[in-house]
Amino acid sequence: MTDSILAQAEEFNLLDALSLVPGASEQPCVEISTAACTGRQYLNGATVTHWQPAGHDPVLFTSSQAVFRAGKAIRGGVPICFPWFGGHPTDPDAPSHGLVRTTPWNLTQTALGPDGVEVEMVTNLDQLRAELHTTFGQNLAVRLLVTNTSDSDQTFETALHTYFNLGDIQQVSITGLEHAEFIDQLQNNQRLTQDDTPISFTAETDRIYQNTEATCVLHDPAMSRRIIVEKLGSKSTVVWNPWIEKAQRLADFGDDEYRGMCCIETANIAEHAVTLAPGDSHTTLVKISVENTAG
Ligand code: BG6
Repeated sequence: MTDSILAQAEEFNLLDALSLVPGASEQPCVEISTAACTGRQYLNGATVTHWQPAGHDPVLFTSSQAVFRAGKAIRGGVPICFPWFGGHPTDPDAPSHGLVRTTPWNLTQTALGPDGVEVEMVTNLDQLRAELHTTFGQNLAVRLLVTNTSDSDQTFETALHTYFNLGDIQQVSITGLEHAEFIDQLQNNQRLTQDDTPISFTAETDRIYQNTEATCVLHDPAMSRRIIVEKLGSKSTVVWNPWIEKAQRLADFGDDEYRGMCCIETANIAEHAVTLAPGDSHTTLVKISVENTAG
């Protein structure tokens, strides 16, 4: 950690509940520890990498191979894709998933609120300001607030690219997206429609479900729990698992780790990109909770 960040530590520390510390590879992060949960959020990309409510196993997946350094996206947790998702619409040299998941954000506020420890991080692009408000408690809430700071309309995409930790990918299912239209990124972006059965995984899966504001539930019998993913200000939901070959191709991901994770991403993509008039703001919010199932 640089001296200037260390100097900030005392300003933001909240008694025993939150401290600004050097994390993996000495990268600065906030560590949360309360009766309700433990958590961790890096300044790099404002990426939450850990949240574990009391009485449960960790809910977020972060790869054992993740790389922690400025300029590199953290493989796991909740990377923020903004102001575009996937490839840039016109510039093939632009980075995948936008500009802010690989840059250090400013830690601007911490507080003890009614629902847990609140952390605010901010980054400014030329024409847009992004604030990430995260609440670590018995639930986890991640809220991306984007404001148009320019004097013309601005259009952007968002995704809270959430990686979930699960027991066995072959046994999990996701409900909530029945009958939704999706863009299949593995079939030339064909538009298809989910049938009335829950999503299950038997191969690489990379889909952008469109025009859905539904809550999704990740049913995980191997861990005897379900994870509930509620959202606001989001009309797209991405479901992703790299499966065997893509897992092998990803340098910062273990070959077998596809068995213990999937992404359910709270997003606004393609026809659901957001356009803001000067001075206006938009919120993309995900709220995550977990329930044990088996007795
Ligand atoms: C998902 C995309 O959101 O992110 C996938 O739908 C992509 O296509 C995945 O492979 C991981 O992206 P990256 O840039 O972090 O390797």
